[in-house]
Amino acid sequence: MANLDINSSPRTPSELAWPAVRLRTFGEKVLAIAADFLDRLETLPVTTQATRDAIRGSLADPPQQPLSDDELLMFLSRLFQDSTHTAHPHFLAYITGSGTAPDAYASFIAAVLNQNVGGWATAPAATEIELRLMQWLAHIFGLPPATAGGLIEPGGAISNLTALKVARDFKLGYSCRATGVRCSRPAVIYSSEERHPSIDRAADLLGLGTSALRAIPTDAFYRLRLDLLEDAIRSDIREGILPLAVVATAGTTATGSIDPLAEVAHLCSKYSLWLHVDAAYGGGAMLSPRVAHLLGGIERADSITFDAHKWFYISLPASCTIFRDFACAGRSFSIDASYTPPETNALDLSDYGPAWSRGFDALRIWLPLLSFGTEAFTRRIAEDVELAHYLESEILKRQDLELMAPVALSICCFRYVPPLKARSPYDLNLLNEGILAEIRRIGSFFCSSAVLEERFVLRVCIVNYRTERAHLDALLQCVVETGRRLTVTL
Ligand SMILES: Cc1ncc(COP(=O)(O)O)c(C=O)c1O
Repeated sequence: MANLDINSSPRTPSELAWPAVRLRTFGEKVLAIAADFLDRLETLPVTTQATRDAIRGSLADPPQQPLSDDELLMFLSRLFQDSTHTAHPHFLAYITGSGTAPDAYASFIAAVLNQNVGGWATAPAATEIELRLMQWLAHIFGLPPATAGGLIEPGGAISNLTALKVARDFKLGYSCRATGVRCSRPAVIYSSEERHPSIDRAADLLGLGTSALRAIPTDAFYRLRLDLLEDAIRSDIREGILPLAVVATAGTTATGSIDPLAEVAHLCSKYSLWLHVDAAYGGGAMLSPRVAHLLGGIERADSITFDAHKWFYISLPASCTIFRDFACAGRSFSIDASYTPPETNALDLSDYGPAWSRGFDALRIWLPLLSFGTEAFTRRIAEDVELAHYLESEILKRQDLELMAPVALSICCFRYVPPLKARSPYDLNLLNEGILAEIRRIGSFFCSSAVLEERFVLRVCIVNYRTERAHLDALLQCVVETGRRLTVTL
């Protein structure tokens, strides 16, 4: 074997390694683009005016030879133009936090460090930060510190799936991991008609089938009806079916309603069901004393989904799956029968969830917490609730707007109703669909919609720390003006 003398000739650095000087100069220019974008954000349309064809047409196969830095910067600038700006104070759709500056820097540092948080050895500090963060969240939710723990996943849908996998194995017996569910009694999951569709998807993925999902009707406030839940559980027991879990929602997607968690927890212990609380959105309320009490009973959950990329303002993706007894997740996911117990130093997070290799997403939550302090989140979450109530009160003052659901957290649903004109339910739906499409088309506001009892409603969700009263006033003005204009043409 030839003797390699590594000192004999100067080494040529890999062309894939940027020298420090280029990293700095390029970084400064990228930072300037980002800072300028955030500075001008409010003056920009909330979403791009470019068509799909135009965006597709701007892309080609990757070049064989490198682009210049100027070309790279031009490409990056174009991304800002062709995106929907979730950080814009007029972005009020779905449930998408606006991202924070510290979490953008955390993304960069996480990429530089490139930890594989699947294993402790490949990510010692990152694993411990993730575990510490989960312990803190478990404490906020009132779970027992001795056993509780959790992990970060790519979204609330995956967190719901992970939690229900653990529930399935706990209830059917861990042997079902080997035999499959076909060897078990038929088992069912209960959730309200207002549940997020990811619960149905989880039932499908877990081999239970979507028919194993019992959709329980809701009350006038869009909360799961306890009497009907208990009837359904009893009826299934009579039929020899195994009631497996209840998924209660703390902050439904459409209206933000909160299921009666304490009462659901009581039924779960009465009939020995796993209680999963989908607090993907509403979990943030636990930091605000004004609304935290509405989630009373969540401390009795066996598992909780909480999306930091929703009402915690962190950039996507950052969902937290938290367990009352984290060891159950280990039993459900470890593929080694002698999985490492959580109290040893060698805790590998890939043993506690479906992912194998995992990134350092915890840093994107941790750094903002260090940089703002928890009280800043407490204040802003309370402000979001106040803003939603302000919007509700402004809508109630007007003849041409109709409130469509009471505000529970920071979502407000309403519609435009042309005054002095009787309209069929069909026409009102059509009119409000038109308003939503038009305000999005002109890029002035980005709202979303919901269908409540067959009525199409405009839906505003405030999880954006840049949104203030004046923006909501402008939104109502825009809806009414657009409604008036469309009423003439309808
Ligand atoms: C109540 C609820 N659960 C789960 C989800 C899914 O979360 P994600 O989009 O992060 O996967 C959502 C999404 O809006 C939601 O509102």
